[in-house]
Amino acid sequence: MGCFGDITVTFSANSEEQIKLINQYIDHSLTRFQGTVSLRVAPLIEAMRYSLEGGGKRLRPLLVMASADYLGIPTSHVLPVAAAVEYIHTYSLIHDDLPAIDDDDTRRGKPSSHKAFGEAIAILAGDALLTEAFGQMMVLIEEGYFQPSHVLGAIKLLVHHAGVAGMVGGQLLDVNTDHSNFTLPEIEFIHIHKTGALILASVLLPTKLIPVEEAKVRNLRKFGESFGLAFQISDDLLDIEASIRYSRGPRKKPKPTYTRLMSPQEAKEKLNRLIDTAISSVKGEGERGQALIEIAEFVRTRKK
Ligand code: IPE
Ligand code: IPE
Ligand code: MG
Ligand code: MG
Repeated sequence: MGCFGDITVTFSANSEEQIKLINQYIDHSLTRFQGTVSLRVAPLIEAMRYSLEGGGKRLRPLLVMASADYLGIPTSHVLPVAAAVEYIHTYSLIHDDLPAIDDDDTRRGKPSSHKAFGEAIAILAGDALLTEAFGQMMVLIEEGYFQPSHVLGAIKLLVHHAGVAGMVGGQLLDVNTDHSNFTLPEIEFIHIHKTGALILASVLLPTKLIPVEEAKVRNLRKFGESFGLAFQISDDLLDIEASIRYSRGPRKKPKPTYTRLMSPQEAKEKLNRLIDTAISSVKGEGERGQALIEIAEFVRTRKK
């Protein structure tokens, strides 16, 4: 059980320990800014901290750690990667909530960043988190556990999945889609990019840090692809299960969702099939796949 403010999330006993490490690492990374930059940028750091420590489930960092475990990499060695994906995820939520995009006033039951700090600081906090995510990737080189050429491969993968070809491209499609008229392939394409891409990156990043057999990369890719789509379907299901869910108030802007094209029952069946596929792709490694399997099981029935 991991506790963040008023939100409690249950993954597994193992993930409780990992979440503690992730939170400590992220907290330390923010404290370091406070010690090295002018006091006048304090509002920026405060806004970064507000969203980074605002009750997120830490799903993507947990996936980084679980994937490292699958590959036999000590999870503490990938903490900077875990922080980098959480920084990127956090910036994407801050910008996603802005009036120009989803115009959501609350996130995780609290005022969204622009409601708490104003639009200018929210935009800049997002900009800073995105930039500093790559600073975190450079920490991997300073720590010396991995070869610099491998770290560069990981950075390339992160750029691909977070940028134009991945998450940001997906967000563009999300805002540009005609919400009254869209097809299943279209929505799937949007989901795979806006949400699936960063999740897939979290699972694949550790494969770039050490030499890994091709079969294991294939298994992790299959896990990440199935899980990423399942996660967004579960997000859509949560949307209709509660008119006001924990993460925000009622939507001002309609958005393309699975549940507008299929019944909740059909969406749940699709979600379960995808989770089954994710689990079966990493089952072959016994204990090594356990952390990934527990995260996948969580998404089957999650309420947050
Ligand atoms: C929410 O993601 C937004 C999507 C990309 C679907 P999460 O549900 O992982 O967000 P937090 O960080 O736990 O609030
Ligand atoms: C968020 O998707 C995806 C990204 C921020 C990349 P949504 O807009 O569907 O998610 P919520 O409902 O705001 O969390
Ligand atoms: Mg959105
Ligand atoms: Mg949104």
